[in-house]
Amino acid sequence: MEKKPSLFFFVILDIESLSREEIELIMATGGEMKKIMKSGMKKADYLKGKSVITLFYEASTRTRTSFESAGKYLGAHVVNINTASSSVTKGECLKDTVLVLENMDCDGVIIRTPMEGASVYAAKVGKPVVINAGDGAHAHPSQALLDLFTLREYGKKDLQGLKMVIVGDILYSRVARSNIAMWKKFGADIHVCGPMTLLPHDISALGVTVDARVEDALRDADVVDVLRIQLERQKNGLFPTPREYSRQYGVNDERLALCKKDVVILHPGPMNRGLEISYGVGYCGNAAIRDQVNNGVAVRMALLNLTLGGGEAK
Ligand code: CP
Repeated sequence: MEKKPSLFFFVILDIESLSREEIELIMATGGEMKKIMKSGMKKADYLKGKSVITLFYEASTRTRTSFESAGKYLGAHVVNINTASSSVTKGECLKDTVLVLENMDCDGVIIRTPMEGASVYAAKVGKPVVINAGDGAHAHPSQALLDLFTLREYGKKDLQGLKMVIVGDILYSRVARSNIAMWKKFGADIHVCGPMTLLPHDISALGVTVDARVEDALRDADVVDVLRIQLERQKNGLFPTPREYSRQYGVNDERLALCKKDVVILHPGPMNRGLEISYGVGYCGNAAIRDQVNNGVAVRMALLNLTLGGGEAK
């Protein structure tokens, strides 16, 4: 897809199509946006006069609320569409829905869907800026961007050669795909670990090391991204029982001790505590999980500002 000839974006669909220069711009803009968030006056007029619509075909707490907050903090008019109470339930297709929003002069649509490629399609058929807020198992670019922003805050400024581990349900995980794409751009040594039934058949083509034992994956890790077991997407029988999964792959205090002392623990949320991550690890000093949520707002402010015309932070 053709890009505008500047460091302004008109779609954010995946990590693969962002250059390192563009990612650095998003990081820098996110830093400026965080200052607005923390200033005590969460109000700027960068997006005054712009309208943003969140169109979520799947449940969300963090992503939808942070895009809504981000738009409002920057002065945009934000409307949320819950597809369960929209004309989607009457059979309206994605193209017609996007065109309806376009006909309302909406400037930007933030889309989450279970359909891989739906945001790419929406960007093709409609004029509004499209930001992919997660499409099936394909991509969750804003999550990978906020994860990078958070890692830098935790001192992981250069990912070159760092041992970065993703544990869990890689097969159904758009977070894993986007983070692998991001971390590869920055030269990390990426390891993945999970039940064979939850690994994509082409996992080695992604340029990662597959560790069969979680202990091997976690040993001397600099960063661990614990993935949610997506019970809503899975067929039954991909692992024997939640208890068995937790015993074999759960990140607990004992396994945390195998990592480097300054390991950063990420989790995109929502956490199944006691399943893929223990209560202790979820709230330990190495866990950046609450900061990920906080930074999600700042990074999404940056994305809205860079796509909807506010451009670089002043
Ligand atoms: N991380 C993430 O996408 O969370 P939500 O599903 O709550 O948006």
